[in-house]
Amino acid sequence: MKLAQRVRILAESATLAVSAKAARMKSEGIDVISFGAGEPDFDTPEPIKQAAVTALLDGQTKYGKPASGLPAAKRAVCEKLARENRLRYTPNQVIITSGGKMAINLAMQALIDPGDEVVIPAPYWVSYPEIAKLVGGVPIVVMGTEERDYKLTPGELHRVLTPRTKMFVHTSPSNPSGVTYSPDETRALGEVLQEHDLFVLSDEIYDRLVFDGQAFESYAAIGERAFAQTITINALSKSYAMTGWRLGYAAGPAEVINAMAKLQSQFTSGTVTFNQYALIEALTGDQQPVEAMRREFQRRAYFMHQRLAALPGVRCPKPTGAFYCFPNVSGTYARLGVSGSIEFSDLLLEEARVAVVPGIAFGMDGHVRMSFAAGMEELRAGLDRIEKWLAR
Ligand SMILES: Cc1ncc(COP(=O)(O)O)c(C=O)c1O
Repeated sequence: MKLAQRVRILAESATLAVSAKAARMKSEGIDVISFGAGEPDFDTPEPIKQAAVTALLDGQTKYGKPASGLPAAKRAVCEKLARENRLRYTPNQVIITSGGKMAINLAMQALIDPGDEVVIPAPYWVSYPEIAKLVGGVPIVVMGTEERDYKLTPGELHRVLTPRTKMFVHTSPSNPSGVTYSPDETRALGEVLQEHDLFVLSDEIYDRLVFDGQAFESYAAIGERAFAQTITINALSKSYAMTGWRLGYAAGPAEVINAMAKLQSQFTSGTVTFNQYALIEALTGDQQPVEAMRREFQRRAYFMHQRLAALPGVRCPKPTGAFYCFPNVSGTYARLGVSGSIEFSDLLLEEARVAVVPGIAFGMDGHVRMSFAAGMEELRAGLDRIEKWLAR
């Protein structure tokens, strides 16, 4: 059997082996503490669930029309982006998608031709390079420095852009590092990016989960040129604890959004109709549950970061958003006799029964990703295990 080239070039997930092993151990009754989750441990707020149930019982069970999203759902997105992000989009500049991942897929499908370069800062969310490759693009990975918590400087960015660069992927707050660009840092990148004829894919899926009063700046909000060159990506998955609902959206120039809508009409015919009523409730209803979750993540972020920073051979940028710590654990490799993040994670799981995600999946083999989307007791117990394991 000969599978298509586009599938053959896709990387096997480097995280798969460790997470499969953790799942196997758990199913055998072994007490594994998992810091692997990429989703909130909270449940979706009740009024959001109720909105979907009401829509379902009302018979909102046909294809959503148009396939690009219900007009009311698009208006809710415009309202959210204006209220929270200072972004003045109109409904024809918005598409509702099946999760943030689908929005990113559609944007790359709509914009990237074979050979086009897609610049992706590391550490990156696992799927960007793979989606870029799927559409024939060439991922260009650019490393920030540890001193700057991996945030790119304008100089570093300038050096990597070429006439072939079609897209720059900006993610703030970041999965996996949890770091957030300040408004000034965002504007500094913008000074370089606005000089170039390229698109910016601004993945703002963690925009509500920012800690300690740090201001969040949407890339498209920094200026007119930035607004015109940006596809703003967001989803309800993380902020509203709705990963299983598959609700995301993108906003950008009408021509790009129309192209994405055309693709979506052929791929999925749009997002689940009654779920779009849940999106409307989430984005326009009471925002208090989001704030409660944010506060709890903030409390956990500091706890986990403090504990990690105290471990010998471990350095960790302080997370200012999302729900991940991304410690550099390479200082422990020689003593543990491991050569990279997969071996480290495997040994940690085997000996201390703690599951983490190897950093190689995010482009950095000296690191691991640890999610704090888990209760405080679990965090404490897992970190105790790691501390004891490293001290032996
Ligand atoms: C940075 C980032 N973008 C996009 C996604 C995809 O989100 P969704 O579950 O809405 O498809 C994730 C999920 O892990 C993410 O971390």
